[in-house]
Amino acid sequence: MSEQAHMARGRWSSRMAFILAATGSAVGLGNIWKFPYIAGENGGGAFVLVYLICIALIGIPIMMSEVMIGRRGRLSPINTMALLAKSEGANPRWKWLGVMGVVAGFLILSYYSVIAGWALYYVLEAGSGVFTQASPEKIKSVFDGMVGSPATLLFWHTVFMAMTMFVVARGVSQGLEKAVTTLMPGLFVILLGLLVYSFFEADFSRGVEFLFAADFSKLSGEAILTAMGHAFFTLSLGMGAIMIYGSYLPDDVSIAKTAVIVSVLDTAVALVAGLVIFPIVFANGLEAGAGPGLVFQTLPIAFGQMPGGVIIATLFFIMLVFAAWTSAISLIEPAVAWYGEKFGSSRTKAAVVTGFVTWLIGVGSALSFNVWGDPLLFGKNFFDLLDFLTANIMLPLGGLFIAIFAAWVMHRRTAREALEMRDGALFHLWHFLVRYVTPVAVLLIFLQAIGVIG
Ligand code: PHE
Repeated sequence: MSEQAHMARGRWSSRMAFILAATGSAVGLGNIWKFPYIAGENGGGAFVLVYLICIALIGIPIMMSEVMIGRRGRLSPINTMALLAKSEGANPRWKWLGVMGVVAGFLILSYYSVIAGWALYYVLEAGSGVFTQASPEKIKSVFDGMVGSPATLLFWHTVFMAMTMFVVARGVSQGLEKAVTTLMPGLFVILLGLLVYSFFEADFSRGVEFLFAADFSKLSGEAILTAMGHAFFTLSLGMGAIMIYGSYLPDDVSIAKTAVIVSVLDTAVALVAGLVIFPIVFANGLEAGAGPGLVFQTLPIAFGQMPGGVIIATLFFIMLVFAAWTSAISLIEPAVAWYGEKFGSSRTKAAVVTGFVTWLIGVGSALSFNVWGDPLLFGKNFFDLLDFLTANIMLPLGGLFIAIFAAWVMHRRTAREALEMRDGALFHLWHFLVRYVTPVAVLLIFLQAIGVIG
Protein backbone atom coordinates (compact mmCIF):
# COMPACT_ATOMS: atom_id res chain seq x y z
CA MET A 1 0.00 0.00 0.00
CA SER A 2 1.33 3.46 -0.85
CA GLU A 3 1.78 6.19 1.74
CA GLN A 4 -1.21 7.95 0.26
CA ALA A 5 -3.43 4.92 0.56
CA HIS A 6 -2.38 4.71 4.21
CA MET A 7 -3.50 8.25 4.77
CA ALA A 8 -6.81 7.65 3.06
CA ARG A 9 -7.47 4.54 5.12
CA GLY A 10 -6.38 6.02 8.42
CA ARG A 11 -3.81 5.00 11.00
CA TRP A 12 -3.45 5.60 14.76
CA SER A 13 -0.81 8.24 15.32
CA SER A 14 0.92 6.29 18.11
CA ARG A 15 0.85 3.20 20.26
CA MET A 16 -0.86 5.27 22.95
CA ALA A 17 -3.65 6.23 20.55
CA PHE A 18 -4.28 2.56 19.81
CA ILE A 19 -4.27 1.65 23.49
CA LEU A 20 -6.79 4.39 24.26
CA ALA A 21 -8.95 3.42 21.29
CA ALA A 22 -8.95 -0.30 22.12
CA THR A 23 -9.50 0.43 25.81
CA GLY A 24 -12.25 2.86 24.82
CA SER A 25 -13.88 0.07 22.85
CA ALA A 26 -13.48 -2.44 25.65
CA VAL A 27 -14.54 -0.20 28.51
CA GLY A 28 -18.23 0.45 28.07
CA LEU A 29 -21.68 -0.27 29.37
CA GLY A 30 -20.37 -3.81 29.79
CA ASN A 31 -18.03 -2.71 32.55
CA ILE A 32 -20.11 -0.17 34.42
CA TRP A 33 -23.69 -1.22 33.81
CA LYS A 34 -23.63 -4.91 32.95
CA PHE A 35 -20.75 -6.40 34.93
CA PRO A 36 -21.99 -5.18 38.33
CA TYR A 37 -25.54 -6.36 37.74
CA ILE A 38 -24.65 -9.79 36.36
CA ALA A 39 -22.12 -10.26 39.16
CA GLY A 40 -24.92 -9.25 41.53
CA GLU A 41 -27.43 -11.65 39.99
CA ASN A 42 -24.97 -14.54 39.96
CA GLY A 43 -23.87 -14.20 43.54
CA GLY A 44 -20.59 -12.26 43.27
CA GLY A 45 -17.20 -13.87 44.02
CA ALA A 46 -17.37 -17.26 42.29
CA PHE A 47 -18.81 -15.68 39.16
CA VAL A 48 -16.10 -13.01 39.20
CA LEU A 49 -13.43 -15.69 39.44
CA VAL A 50 -14.74 -17.59 36.40
CA TYR A 51 -14.90 -14.31 34.52
CA LEU A 52 -11.28 -13.49 35.41
CA ILE A 53 -10.12 -16.95 34.27
CA CYS A 54 -11.93 -16.46 30.97
CA ILE A 55 -10.24 -13.08 30.47
CA ALA A 56 -6.79 -14.54 31.05
CA LEU A 57 -7.04 -17.85 29.17
CA ILE A 58 -9.46 -16.95 26.39
CA GLY A 59 -9.68 -13.16 26.20
CA ILE A 60 -6.04 -12.10 25.99
CA PRO A 61 -5.00 -14.77 23.43
CA ILE A 62 -8.00 -13.94 21.23
CA MET A 63 -7.39 -10.24 21.48
CA MET A 64 -3.84 -10.84 20.24
CA SER A 65 -5.21 -12.96 17.38
CA GLU A 66 -7.71 -10.31 16.33
CA VAL A 67 -5.20 -7.47 16.36
CA MET A 68 -2.72 -9.66 14.50
CA ILE A 69 -5.22 -10.65 11.79
CA GLY A 70 -6.41 -7.05 11.48
CA ARG A 71 -2.94 -5.60 11.07
CA ARG A 72 -1.95 -8.26 8.58
CA GLY A 73 -5.03 -7.69 6.41
CA ARG A 74 -5.37 -3.92 6.84
CA LEU A 75 -8.94 -3.97 5.52
CA SER A 76 -12.42 -4.27 7.05
CA PRO A 77 -12.93 -7.64 8.80
CA ILE A 78 -14.87 -9.04 5.82
CA ASN A 79 -12.17 -8.22 3.28
CA THR A 80 -9.36 -8.99 5.70
CA MET A 81 -10.71 -12.49 6.20
CA ALA A 82 -11.09 -12.93 2.43
CA LEU A 83 -7.56 -11.65 1.82
CA LEU A 84 -5.86 -13.75 4.49
CA ALA A 85 -7.83 -16.87 3.58
CA LYS A 86 -6.50 -16.46 0.07
CA SER A 87 -2.90 -15.84 1.06
CA GLU A 88 -2.96 -18.82 3.44
CA GLY A 89 -4.50 -21.02 0.78
CA ALA A 90 -7.69 -21.52 2.79
CA ASN A 91 -11.38 -21.67 1.91
CA PRO A 92 -12.70 -18.29 0.67
CA ARG A 93 -15.79 -18.79 2.83
CA TRP A 94 -13.76 -17.55 5.79
CA LYS A 95 -14.98 -14.15 4.73
CA TRP A 96 -18.33 -15.09 6.34
CA LEU A 97 -16.64 -14.84 9.69
CA GLY A 98 -16.18 -11.15 8.90
CA VAL A 99 -19.79 -10.91 7.78
CA MET A 100 -21.03 -12.42 11.04
CA GLY A 101 -18.94 -9.85 12.91
CA VAL A 102 -20.42 -6.93 11.01
CA VAL A 103 -23.93 -8.26 11.65
CA ALA A 104 -23.15 -8.72 15.36
CA GLY A 105 -21.93 -5.12 15.45
CA PHE A 106 -25.24 -3.85 14.07
CA LEU A 107 -27.25 -5.96 16.50
CA ILE A 108 -25.22 -5.05 19.57
CA LEU A 109 -25.10 -1.35 18.82
CA SER A 110 -28.85 -1.28 18.19
CA TYR A 111 -29.67 -2.17 21.80
CA TYR A 112 -26.50 -0.67 23.26
CA SER A 113 -27.60 2.71 22.00
CA VAL A 114 -30.94 2.40 23.79
CA ILE A 115 -29.19 1.81 27.13
CA ALA A 116 -26.70 4.59 26.40
CA GLY A 117 -29.80 6.75 25.85
CA TRP A 118 -30.88 5.95 29.42
CA ALA A 119 -27.51 7.23 30.60
CA LEU A 120 -27.95 10.48 28.63
CA TYR A 121 -31.40 10.97 30.14
CA TYR A 122 -30.00 10.34 33.61
CA VAL A 123 -27.27 12.97 33.19
CA LEU A 124 -30.06 15.53 32.95
CA GLU A 125 -32.17 14.00 35.71
CA ALA A 126 -29.22 13.74 38.08
CA GLY A 127 -27.95 17.21 37.21
CA SER A 128 -31.31 18.82 37.91
CA GLY A 129 -31.41 17.27 41.39
CA VAL A 130 -34.37 14.97 40.82
CA PHE A 131 -32.85 12.29 43.07
CA THR A 132 -32.06 14.54 46.03
CA GLN A 133 -33.80 13.12 49.12
CA ALA A 134 -36.13 11.20 46.82
CA SER A 135 -37.82 8.07 48.17
CA PRO A 136 -37.11 4.70 46.53
CA GLU A 137 -40.66 4.79 45.13
CA LYS A 138 -40.04 8.17 43.55
CA ILE A 139 -36.80 6.95 41.96
CA LYS A 140 -38.47 3.82 40.71
CA SER A 141 -41.14 5.98 39.12
CA VAL A 142 -38.46 8.05 37.32
CA PHE A 143 -37.01 4.84 35.87
CA ASP A 144 -40.40 3.30 35.07
CA GLY A 145 -41.56 6.57 33.55
CA MET A 146 -38.50 6.63 31.27
CA VAL A 147 -38.60 3.04 30.07
CA GLY A 148 -42.39 3.13 29.83
CA SER A 149 -42.31 5.98 27.34
CA PRO A 150 -41.48 4.95 23.77
CA ALA A 151 -41.03 8.61 22.82
CA THR A 152 -38.42 9.24 25.54
CA LEU A 153 -36.46 6.09 24.71
CA LEU A 154 -36.58 6.74 20.97
CA PHE A 155 -35.52 10.35 21.43
CA TRP A 156 -32.40 9.50 23.47
CA HIS A 157 -31.60 6.48 21.29
CA THR A 158 -31.64 8.87 18.33
CA VAL A 159 -29.41 11.41 20.10
CA PHE A 160 -26.88 8.74 21.01
CA MET A 161 -26.79 7.29 17.48
CA ALA A 162 -26.27 10.80 16.10
CA MET A 163 -23.34 11.37 18.51
CA THR A 164 -21.82 8.05 17.44
CA MET A 165 -22.17 8.60 13.72
CA PHE A 166 -20.84 12.15 14.04
CA VAL A 167 -17.53 10.80 15.39
CA VAL A 168 -17.37 7.92 12.94
CA ALA A 169 -18.07 10.13 9.92
CA ARG A 170 -15.00 12.23 10.71
CA GLY A 171 -12.68 9.31 10.19
CA VAL A 172 -9.95 7.53 12.10
CA SER A 173 -7.66 10.38 13.10
CA GLN A 174 -10.05 13.33 13.17
CA GLY A 175 -12.96 11.37 14.62
CA LEU A 176 -12.09 8.20 16.49
CA GLU A 177 -8.66 9.16 17.76
CA LYS A 178 -9.74 12.63 18.89
CA ALA A 179 -12.75 11.23 20.70
CA VAL A 180 -10.85 8.55 22.59
CA THR A 181 -7.94 10.77 23.55
CA THR A 182 -10.28 13.29 25.18
CA LEU A 183 -12.98 11.03 26.59
CA MET A 184 -10.90 8.20 28.07
CA PRO A 185 -8.73 10.33 30.38
CA GLY A 186 -11.95 12.03 31.53
CA LEU A 187 -13.47 8.66 32.28
CA PHE A 188 -10.46 7.52 34.32
CA VAL A 189 -10.43 10.70 36.41
CA ILE A 190 -14.15 10.45 37.22
CA LEU A 191 -13.88 6.76 38.07
CA LEU A 192 -10.98 7.30 40.47
CA GLY A 193 -12.80 10.19 42.11
CA LEU A 194 -15.81 7.96 42.67
CA LEU A 195 -13.59 5.20 44.06
CA VAL A 196 -12.15 7.57 46.63
CA TYR A 197 -15.69 8.49 47.65
CA SER A 198 -16.74 4.85 47.99
CA PHE A 199 -13.62 4.01 49.94
CA PHE A 200 -14.09 6.70 52.56
CA GLU A 201 -17.82 7.22 52.68
CA ALA A 202 -19.48 3.90 51.85
CA ASP A 203 -19.41 0.28 53.02
CA PHE A 204 -16.20 -0.57 51.19
CA SER A 205 -15.36 -3.80 52.99
CA ARG A 206 -18.74 -5.36 52.24
CA GLY A 207 -18.30 -4.41 48.60
CA VAL A 208 -14.91 -6.14 48.52
CA GLU A 209 -16.31 -9.20 50.23
CA PHE A 210 -19.21 -9.42 47.80
CA LEU A 211 -16.95 -9.22 44.74
CA PHE A 212 -14.14 -11.45 45.90
CA ALA A 213 -15.47 -14.02 48.38
CA ALA A 214 -16.23 -17.04 46.22
CA ASP A 215 -19.22 -19.24 47.06
CA PHE A 216 -19.32 -21.91 44.39
CA SER A 217 -22.72 -23.23 45.42
CA LYS A 218 -24.23 -20.19 43.71
CA LEU A 219 -22.56 -20.93 40.39
CA SER A 220 -24.97 -22.41 37.82
CA GLY A 221 -24.19 -23.66 34.31
CA GLU A 222 -25.87 -20.64 32.83
CA ALA A 223 -23.72 -18.44 35.08
CA ILE A 224 -20.56 -19.93 33.57
CA LEU A 225 -21.84 -19.25 30.05
CA THR A 226 -22.73 -15.71 31.11
CA ALA A 227 -19.23 -15.21 32.54
CA MET A 228 -17.58 -16.43 29.33
CA GLY A 229 -19.94 -14.44 27.12
CA HIS A 230 -19.21 -11.40 29.19
CA ALA A 231 -15.45 -11.89 28.85
CA PHE A 232 -15.92 -11.63 25.07
CA PHE A 233 -18.37 -8.76 25.32
CA THR A 234 -16.32 -6.67 27.71
CA LEU A 235 -13.11 -7.05 25.68
CA SER A 236 -15.04 -6.34 22.44
CA LEU A 237 -13.94 -9.68 21.01
CA GLY A 238 -15.41 -12.00 18.43
CA MET A 239 -16.98 -9.47 16.08
CA GLY A 240 -14.13 -7.59 14.42
CA ALA A 241 -14.07 -4.37 16.46
CA ILE A 242 -10.60 -5.08 17.76
CA MET A 243 -9.66 -6.47 14.34
CA ILE A 244 -10.52 -3.22 12.59
CA TYR A 245 -8.69 -1.23 15.28
CA GLY A 246 -5.72 -3.54 14.70
CA SER A 247 -5.91 -2.72 11.00
CA TYR A 248 -5.05 0.90 11.84
CA LEU A 249 -2.12 -0.10 14.08
CA PRO A 250 1.38 1.01 13.03
CA ASP A 251 3.70 -1.83 12.09
CA ASP A 252 6.26 -1.57 14.85
CA VAL A 253 3.95 -1.83 17.87
CA SER A 254 4.08 -4.98 20.02
CA ILE A 255 0.73 -6.72 19.81
CA ALA A 256 1.28 -8.95 22.84
CA LYS A 257 2.10 -6.07 25.17
CA THR A 258 -0.72 -3.84 24.03
CA ALA A 259 -3.27 -6.67 24.26
CA VAL A 260 -2.24 -7.34 27.84
CA ILE A 261 -2.39 -3.64 28.72
CA VAL A 262 -5.85 -3.22 27.21
CA SER A 263 -7.21 -6.36 28.91
CA VAL A 264 -5.80 -5.39 32.28
CA LEU A 265 -7.21 -1.85 32.00
CA ASP A 266 -10.62 -3.19 31.01
CA THR A 267 -10.70 -5.66 33.88
CA ALA A 268 -9.52 -3.00 36.31
CA VAL A 269 -12.32 -0.66 35.24
CA ALA A 270 -14.96 -3.37 35.72
CA LEU A 271 -13.64 -4.26 39.18
CA VAL A 272 -13.32 -0.62 40.21
CA ALA A 273 -16.84 0.06 38.94
CA GLY A 274 -17.99 -2.81 41.17
CA LEU A 275 -16.01 -1.33 44.06
CA VAL A 276 -17.73 2.01 43.48
CA ILE A 277 -21.24 0.63 43.12
CA PHE A 278 -21.57 -2.18 45.69
CA PRO A 279 -20.24 -0.25 48.71
CA ILE A 280 -22.73 2.54 47.94
CA VAL A 281 -25.52 0.00 47.46
CA PHE A 282 -24.76 -1.81 50.75
CA ALA A 283 -24.18 1.36 52.75
CA ASN A 284 -27.77 2.28 51.92
CA GLY A 285 -29.23 -1.10 52.79
CA LEU A 286 -30.08 -1.89 49.15
CA GLU A 287 -29.93 -5.15 47.19
CA ALA A 288 -27.05 -6.19 44.90
CA GLY A 289 -29.16 -8.44 42.67
CA ALA A 290 -31.40 -5.74 41.21
CA GLY A 291 -30.66 -6.65 37.58
CA PRO A 292 -30.43 -4.16 34.70
CA GLY A 293 -31.90 -1.45 36.93
CA LEU A 294 -28.96 -1.63 39.37
CA VAL A 295 -27.16 1.53 38.30
CA PHE A 296 -30.34 3.33 37.22
CA GLN A 297 -32.69 2.46 40.06
CA THR A 298 -30.65 1.38 43.04
CA LEU A 299 -27.68 3.68 42.79
CA PRO A 300 -29.73 6.93 42.47
CA ILE A 301 -31.40 6.14 45.81
CA ALA A 302 -27.96 6.25 47.35
CA PHE A 303 -26.96 9.36 45.38
CA GLY A 304 -30.05 11.10 46.73
CA GLN A 305 -29.02 10.53 50.34
CA MET A 306 -25.36 11.52 50.18
CA PRO A 307 -23.79 14.94 50.59
CA GLY A 308 -22.72 16.27 47.19
CA GLY A 309 -24.92 13.60 45.62
CA VAL A 310 -26.02 15.80 42.73
CA ILE A 311 -22.45 16.25 41.52
CA ILE A 312 -21.45 12.65 42.14
CA ALA A 313 -24.53 11.31 40.37
CA THR A 314 -24.09 13.63 37.40
CA LEU A 315 -20.42 12.68 37.06
CA PHE A 316 -21.32 9.01 37.29
CA PHE A 317 -23.76 9.20 34.40
CA ILE A 318 -21.45 11.39 32.32
CA MET A 319 -18.80 8.71 32.80
CA LEU A 320 -21.29 6.08 31.64
CA VAL A 321 -22.03 8.12 28.49
CA PHE A 322 -18.30 8.52 27.72
CA ALA A 323 -17.75 4.80 28.17
CA ALA A 324 -20.67 3.89 25.92
CA TRP A 325 -19.71 6.44 23.27
CA THR A 326 -16.15 5.18 22.77
CA SER A 327 -17.48 1.60 22.54
CA ALA A 328 -20.27 2.46 20.14
CA ILE A 329 -17.87 3.87 17.55
CA SER A 330 -15.98 0.58 17.52
CA LEU A 331 -19.18 -1.45 17.13
CA ILE A 332 -20.04 0.28 13.86
CA GLU A 333 -16.52 0.87 12.50
CA PRO A 334 -16.23 -2.59 10.84
CA ALA A 335 -19.45 -1.92 8.92
CA VAL A 336 -18.43 1.62 7.98
CA ALA A 337 -15.00 0.51 6.75
CA TRP A 338 -16.56 -2.31 4.74
CA TYR A 339 -19.17 -0.01 3.23
CA GLY A 340 -16.43 2.38 2.10
CA GLU A 341 -14.43 -0.47 0.54
CA LYS A 342 -17.45 -1.94 -1.18
CA PHE A 343 -19.04 1.19 -2.62
CA GLY A 344 -16.11 3.59 -2.58
CA SER A 345 -18.31 6.09 -0.80
CA SER A 346 -17.28 8.78 1.67
CA ARG A 347 -17.17 8.06 5.39
CA THR A 348 -20.07 10.42 5.90
CA LYS A 349 -22.28 8.48 3.56
CA ALA A 350 -21.15 5.16 5.03
CA ALA A 351 -21.87 6.48 8.53
CA VAL A 352 -25.34 7.73 7.62
CA VAL A 353 -26.38 4.48 5.95
CA THR A 354 -25.02 2.10 8.60
CA GLY A 355 -26.21 4.37 11.40
CA PHE A 356 -29.72 4.38 10.00
CA VAL A 357 -29.84 0.58 9.79
CA THR A 358 -28.67 0.33 13.40
CA TRP A 359 -31.15 2.96 14.53
CA LEU A 360 -33.99 1.05 12.91
CA ILE A 361 -33.17 -2.25 14.65
CA GLY A 362 -32.81 -0.27 17.87
CA VAL A 363 -36.43 0.80 17.67
CA GLY A 364 -37.33 -2.83 18.41
CA SER A 365 -35.23 -2.75 21.58
CA ALA A 366 -36.63 0.59 22.69
CA LEU A 367 -40.16 -0.77 22.34
CA SER A 368 -39.22 -3.96 24.26
CA PHE A 369 -39.40 -1.96 27.47
CA ASN A 370 -42.97 -0.86 26.94
CA VAL A 371 -45.48 -1.64 24.17
CA TRP A 372 -43.55 -4.67 22.88
CA GLY A 373 -42.50 -6.14 26.21
CA ASP A 374 -44.14 -9.54 25.83
CA PRO A 375 -41.85 -12.51 25.30
CA LEU A 376 -41.28 -13.49 21.69
CA LEU A 377 -39.19 -16.65 22.11
CA PHE A 378 -37.84 -18.67 25.09
CA GLY A 379 -39.57 -16.24 27.45
CA LYS A 380 -37.40 -13.37 26.22
CA ASN A 381 -38.48 -10.16 24.54
CA PHE A 382 -36.69 -8.61 21.55
CA PHE A 383 -34.12 -6.79 23.68
CA ASP A 384 -33.31 -9.82 25.85
CA LEU A 385 -33.10 -12.04 22.78
CA LEU A 386 -30.62 -9.71 21.06
CA ASP A 387 -28.52 -9.47 24.20
CA PHE A 388 -28.47 -13.26 24.64
CA LEU A 389 -27.91 -14.02 20.96
CA THR A 390 -25.03 -11.57 20.53
CA ALA A 391 -23.18 -11.75 23.84
CA ASN A 392 -23.69 -15.42 24.70
CA ILE A 393 -23.70 -16.98 21.23
CA MET A 394 -22.37 -14.83 18.38
CA LEU A 395 -19.31 -13.39 20.15
CA PRO A 396 -18.06 -16.71 21.61
CA LEU A 397 -18.73 -18.37 18.25
CA GLY A 398 -16.87 -15.58 16.43
CA GLY A 399 -14.03 -15.94 18.94
CA LEU A 400 -13.93 -19.70 18.43
CA PHE A 401 -13.53 -19.29 14.68
CA ILE A 402 -10.97 -16.52 15.05
CA ALA A 403 -8.95 -18.88 17.25
CA ILE A 404 -9.28 -21.68 14.70
CA PHE A 405 -8.20 -19.35 11.92
CA ALA A 406 -5.24 -17.90 13.80
CA ALA A 407 -3.88 -21.20 15.12
CA TRP A 408 -5.02 -23.89 12.69
CA VAL A 409 -5.50 -22.16 9.33
CA MET A 410 -2.78 -19.54 9.37
CA HIS A 411 0.67 -20.99 9.07
CA ARG A 412 2.55 -20.89 12.31
CA ARG A 413 5.30 -18.81 10.70
CA THR A 414 2.92 -16.26 9.21
CA ALA A 415 1.19 -15.84 12.56
CA ARG A 416 4.48 -15.38 14.34
CA GLU A 417 5.69 -12.85 11.81
CA ALA A 418 2.39 -10.98 11.97
CA LEU A 419 2.65 -10.84 15.76
CA GLU A 420 6.29 -9.80 15.41
CA MET A 421 7.26 -12.25 18.13
CA ARG A 422 10.44 -14.24 18.56
CA ASP A 423 10.16 -18.02 18.35
CA GLY A 424 10.29 -18.23 22.14
CA ALA A 425 8.25 -19.34 25.11
CA LEU A 426 5.72 -16.53 24.88
CA PHE A 427 4.88 -17.27 21.29
CA HIS A 428 4.54 -20.95 22.10
CA LEU A 429 2.25 -20.16 25.01
CA TRP A 430 0.04 -18.00 22.80
CA HIS A 431 -0.08 -20.63 20.09
CA PHE A 432 -0.96 -23.38 22.55
CA LEU A 433 -3.71 -21.35 24.18
CA VAL A 434 -5.31 -20.32 20.90
CA ARG A 435 -4.89 -23.73 19.31
CA TYR A 436 -6.20 -25.90 22.13
CA VAL A 437 -7.35 -24.12 25.25
CA THR A 438 -9.62 -21.48 23.73
CA PRO A 439 -11.55 -23.70 21.31
CA VAL A 440 -12.00 -26.48 23.85
CA ALA A 441 -13.09 -24.10 26.59
CA VAL A 442 -15.60 -22.33 24.36
CA LEU A 443 -17.02 -25.64 23.13
CA LEU A 444 -17.27 -27.14 26.61
CA ILE A 445 -19.05 -24.09 27.95
CA PHE A 446 -21.49 -24.16 25.02
CA LEU A 447 -22.23 -27.86 25.50
CA GLN A 448 -22.69 -27.43 29.20
CA ALA A 449 -25.03 -24.49 28.69
CA ILE A 450 -27.32 -26.37 26.35
CA GLY A 451 -27.33 -29.25 28.80
CA VAL A 452 -25.35 -31.86 26.83
CA ILE A 453 -22.85 -32.26 29.62
CA GLY A 454 -23.50 -31.88 33.31
N1 PHE B 1 -16.81 -3.89 25.17
C1 PHE B 1 -17.98 -3.08 25.16
C2 PHE B 1 -18.52 -2.98 26.59
O1 PHE B 1 -18.04 -3.60 27.47
C3 PHE B 1 -19.06 -3.59 24.24
C4 PHE B 1 -18.57 -4.00 22.90
C5 PHE B 1 -18.73 -5.31 22.48
C6 PHE B 1 -17.92 -3.09 22.08
C7 PHE B 1 -18.25 -5.73 21.25
C8 PHE B 1 -17.42 -3.50 20.83
C9 PHE B 1 -17.59 -4.82 20.45
O2 PHE B 1 -19.46 -2.29 26.84
